[in-house]
Amino acid sequence: MKFSLSTAEPKKHANLCLIVGIYEDGELTPAAKAIDIGSKHALTKLIKRGGFKGKLGQTLPVYHLGDSTFEHIVIVGCGKREKITSMIFRNIVICAMKSLKSTQTTQAVCYLTELDVTKKNAAWKTRQIVEATEDAFYCFDLFKSEKNPKSSLTEILVYLGDTKHQKDCELALKQGKAIADSVTLTKNLANLPSNICTPSFLADQAKDLAKLHAAVSLKVLSENEMKKLGMGALLGVSQGSAEEAKLICLEYKGSSKKQAPVALVGKGVTFDTGGNSLKSPDGMVGMKYDMCGAASVIGTINAIAILKLPIHVVGVIPAVENMPGGTAYKPEDILTSLSGQTIEVISTDAEGRLILSDALTYCERYKPDVVIDIATLTGAVVIALGTHASGLLSNNEVLAQELLEAGLESNDRAWQLPLWDEYQEQIKSPFADMANTGGRSAGTITAACFLSRFAKKFQWAHLDVAGTAAMMMGTSERMATGRPVPLLVQYLIDRAKA
Ligand code: BES
Ligand code: MN
Ligand code: ZN
Repeated sequence: MKFSLSTAEPKKHANLCLIVGIYEDGELTPAAKAIDIGSKHALTKLIKRGGFKGKLGQTLPVYHLGDSTFEHIVIVGCGKREKITSMIFRNIVICAMKSLKSTQTTQAVCYLTELDVTKKNAAWKTRQIVEATEDAFYCFDLFKSEKNPKSSLTEILVYLGDTKHQKDCELALKQGKAIADSVTLTKNLANLPSNICTPSFLADQAKDLAKLHAAVSLKVLSENEMKKLGMGALLGVSQGSAEEAKLICLEYKGSSKKQAPVALVGKGVTFDTGGNSLKSPDGMVGMKYDMCGAASVIGTINAIAILKLPIHVVGVIPAVENMPGGTAYKPEDILTSLSGQTIEVISTDAEGRLILSDALTYCERYKPDVVIDIATLTGAVVIALGTHASGLLSNNEVLAQELLEAGLESNDRAWQLPLWDEYQEQIKSPFADMANTGGRSAGTITAACFLSRFAKKFQWAHLDVAGTAAMMMGTSERMATGRPVPLLVQYLIDRAKA
């Protein structure tokens, strides 16, 4: 989809599809009002006759309005005027755009920038419209014999009410497009099944990314190289799989200045059977998404490379498949991590923290300023926060606040959980330096406690995205979301500004 700005009033675009809002009390937004006047109030008559109440997300398509020149209008219900939060705004846009999927028009003009969103300006709304639109039109039918019909819509004009904001809105359009395209890249990778998306496949994707952007370089470590380094935790997880493990190291240099990098570490378990602590059949469906952290690192680096942010970022992706079997690691095995710390395996299903621990230690060689890991790490975070917020834990309060802010700004929210020392007790082992599980209580926190032991040398934050990176309800409603790419890119945009 192409996006551009337009300052034109509805009657100038009468032959295109016009997207306008109506509040729950029947109040029309300015563009809708202009259409109403231009059609001798045919619009209000029609709305009244149809019993359209402007309830949040309700849409009404109108063709050939009265004897006016307006060809196609989509009216979207915006609910209560004073209650439009940033999430509600996003959902209004998604509802409006979804109703356009089967339209015949090639161009639409979105006047939803007219809505008042609490504390948000024109540029923010412009960027959200771009991101929400791409989200609404996303579909993954690579493996369907019958493809979804292609929408004929090719361009969205976003209404710019005041040319005073033109520069900001143009940047917003550019950022929105970079983020949306990167979210799509992340979703596409995540949605692939594990018989295609293996650790080697992920490494090839990283290679493509490095080819695409001059500022991105790549190094991939083989199992042999990892063995020489002593990555016993990562290799322990991988040893039951026929697929070779990879440590994928991406580096983006957006500035010639020497800067300590931000390191992004993404969990890349291309399938999580649970290993010898085998998952139940129901619990296993959705586990192709256990590489969403990895996919979000690839997506984020793609976005910042498109935007040419003047920063230094490395992406470290431990990629493995977690399988059971005769060569697989077992409960009570003791692994020696790259850090030298020993780990007693209680559950082979707590594999994410094992591969991440070695990847975190590996990050030390980049002398990073900040390390952020992203992982579908625990089922417990889904119990705690559901699908609305990613879990955030950090050893640095300033970093935690910056990430929470970035989540609010980008409509990709996180919520902080405590990382108090008292929880560390739960991962004691009688035989090794630590155990890889901490019992049922506070599962997200004890997983982060485990990781914190490998993140002592830098400012570090952990995003548990098990509830947000993919929707896994039942078997028929699974789909990747591309989160937390918007949060991460926002954080890096903010950093580039500072
Ligand atoms: N990949 C899972 C976490 C997960 C669960 C992601 C549900 C998405 C949806 C992770 O490797 C795992 O199995 N975690 C265990 C940890 C436990 C054994 C301590 C869990 O959450 O049950
Ligand atoms: Mn697991
Ligand atoms: Zn897992």
